[in-house]
Order: sequence, then structure tokens, then C-alpha cells
Amino acid sequence: MLAARRTGTFTESVIREMTRIASMHNAVNLAQGFPDFPMPDAMKQAACTAINGDINQYAVTWGAPVLRQAIAEKYRRWYGMEVDPDRNVTVTCGATEAMASVFMALMDAGDEVIVPEPFYENYGPDAILAGANPVFVPFERPNWTLDPDRLRRTFNSRTKAIIVNTPHNPTGRVLSRDEMSLIAELCIEHDAWAITDGPYEHMVYSGHHHEIATWPGMRERTITISSLSKTYSCTGWRIGWIIAPPAQTDPIRKVHDFLTVGAPAPLQAAAAVGFAFDAEYYNQFAAHYKDRRDFLCAVLKEQGFEFAMPEGAYFVLADFSPLSDFDDVTFAKWMTQEIGVATVPGSSFYSRKEDGRNFVRFAFCKKQETLENAAERLSMLRARV
Ligand SMILES: Cc1ncc(COP(=O)(O)O)c(C=O)c1O
Repeated sequence: MLAARRTGTFTESVIREMTRIASMHNAVNLAQGFPDFPMPDAMKQAACTAINGDINQYAVTWGAPVLRQAIAEKYRRWYGMEVDPDRNVTVTCGATEAMASVFMALMDAGDEVIVPEPFYENYGPDAILAGANPVFVPFERPNWTLDPDRLRRTFNSRTKAIIVNTPHNPTGRVLSRDEMSLIAELCIEHDAWAITDGPYEHMVYSGHHHEIATWPGMRERTITISSLSKTYSCTGWRIGWIIAPPAQTDPIRKVHDFLTVGAPAPLQAAAAVGFAFDAEYYNQFAAHYKDRRDFLCAVLKEQGFEFAMPEGAYFVLADFSPLSDFDDVTFAKWMTQEIGVATVPGSSFYSRKEDGRNFVRFAFCKKQETLENAAERLSMLRARV
């Protein structure tokens, strides 16, 4: 018996394959985008307390009231957004489920979704599962900016939505106020949704993180998605959320209910503790990541990689063509085996694989000692290519 045709184009994540090769060769894994250091203690304690306190049954499908309240409060405090926890917020199993539920709730077959590329690899399968067509528009080198004319030309009468992922995986771009204003203008002109994906919202090293829902006329056409995973270093907890107008929250909650019933109850209770952290937590968090970015970028520069300095998130998308004629997959495998540092081949972030042929992505969400270990190995690179 054959599997459904819609799964035919899904490939196993290259990141998992690189991880396998990395462990075979005892390489430092800078491929996987998750931290190798612990999450905040207060949240771990709160999770244990919740489990011991018997918060172990289904939570309210669209999210425990205490967490939805905390999410609403945080958006008010950080972004000046008035969010009604009962009518606007759905808690999901990570931003991953949030995006899939939103696509399935809002897209019809044949709808077009604009995806700036390179892009986080889930958006393609999300579109396919919902029967929608992704339409790609490039972030232009050298600084991964959006070309206003090209973006304008990409919008058309079939455009249902655009994905706004800032800070951006894999380029580290933080979209500027002007770029956000143009996206807002085009969404309004073409009656399209802005679907945000903001798990790196608290990792910004230059520029500012903007929420497009705060632009005039955008609140009613924005679906805001974010997650606990990166901000509180707990990618395994699987908690994310969606903020949407009430009319869209209703179908989104139905899809979410059928797909998952709900996110883990005790972890929702503990998540609310993280939301109460003061500004000091977020400032220190961003400062630590900025140090790691500066450290890794200096090493990569020294070895001859070319890249735009990431303004946010925890990735460097580096052009290795000054160093090697290999394609990206060959270079990434060679570097894992021979140098002992694993990365993600650039083609995993492009619709046309050849566009990513000269890139590999490094993740710097690692302990300083992990990065120092990687730096020592990378120092041999120039001599070996
Ligand atoms: C841009 C982007 N969106 C979403 C996710 C997934 O987030 P979550 O762990 O909340 O599902 C990731 C994780 O790497 C990501 O980079």
C-alpha cells in the first residue's frame, strides 16, 4: 500500500542526518538549533511542583487560563498589544503545531503563501498539508534584505498570506521598520494575512524586534505565533501560542483540538512562571547570545567564510565558496568528518537546492566551552581545504 501522495515531497530533515554523522565522528554539533545548557531553574521547579500538585490531566484545549493570561500580559507589557486571553489566545504544542494549525484553519486549496527565502524548512510541508502553494521571494545578499519591488510584484489576487519570520532562521536578519511597513501595506492592499513566526523575539543584537500586529490596520489581519522553546531554552517542552482575531481563533482552536487536544498541562502551568521574569532576564539572555555570536563570527571570519553578521536569532548562514568548490552537502559532510564540526547544508533552506549550494548554517546556541571546542577544530580548516 502506498502512502498518501501529499507526503511524497517530504524528506527526512537533513539536520537529523547531520546529527547522526556528527555522533559517528564525535563532531561538535553546531547543526542542531537547540541549547546544550539548562533552562531556568525557577521553571524546572515550577514544572515539578505542577506535576506533584496533580496538574496532570488535560488542560483546557486552547490553553490553561493561567498561561493565556500570562501571554496576554506579556504582549501588553512588551509590545503594547491588548490581547484578550479568552478570545485571542490559543496555546499549542510549540510554534510548529501553531503554524500547521493556522495553515489548516485559514488556507484553501490553491491559496498562495509568500515565503521569503532562505526559509525555515517547515513552511513548505505546512503549505502542502493545507493544500496551499508556497511562493518564494528572495532575501537579497549581501545583507539578506527584501527588495521592495520584487516583494510588491510577488503579491497578487491569489495571495492569502505572507510568513513574517523575524528574527530570521537561518540568516539572522531582523526585519527593519521599513520592511515591516511595506509588508503591512501590501497585506492591506491585497487583503492578505501576515502570519508571524517569532520564537527568536528576545534574541536581537542590532535593530529592534517589531510585531506587525501593532501596525495600523494590521491587528485584524495578523496571526502572531511564538513559542517558549528558545526564549526559555526548553525546546523539548513543546509549548507555543497563537494570537489571532476572535473569528479566526475559533477555527484555529478546532484544528488544534483535533490535532493535539492540547499542550502538556503541567508545563503550561510552569510556563507562566517564565512569563513573569523581569526585563533583567531578557537583557542578560540577549547579552549572552551576543557574546556567543561575536565569538563564533570572529572564528568564521578568520577562516575565510563570508557572511552577514546576524542581527538576531542564533544562526550564521556562511558562504564557504572562498574556501572550497564542494557543494553544500559534500562540504558539510567533509567538515563533520575531517574537521569535527557539524553544520546544516544551505540547500535545506531553499526551494531550488542549487541556490543554497555555497552555504552552511552554524548554530551558536551552545555553552562557551562547546564553542571553544568548535573554534579549536575550525582553526585547522584553512590548512586542510
Ligand atoms: C523559525 C522557527 N520557527 C519555529 C521553530 C519551532 O519552534 P517550536 O520548538 O516552538 O516548535 C523553529 C525551531 O527551530 C524555528 O527556527
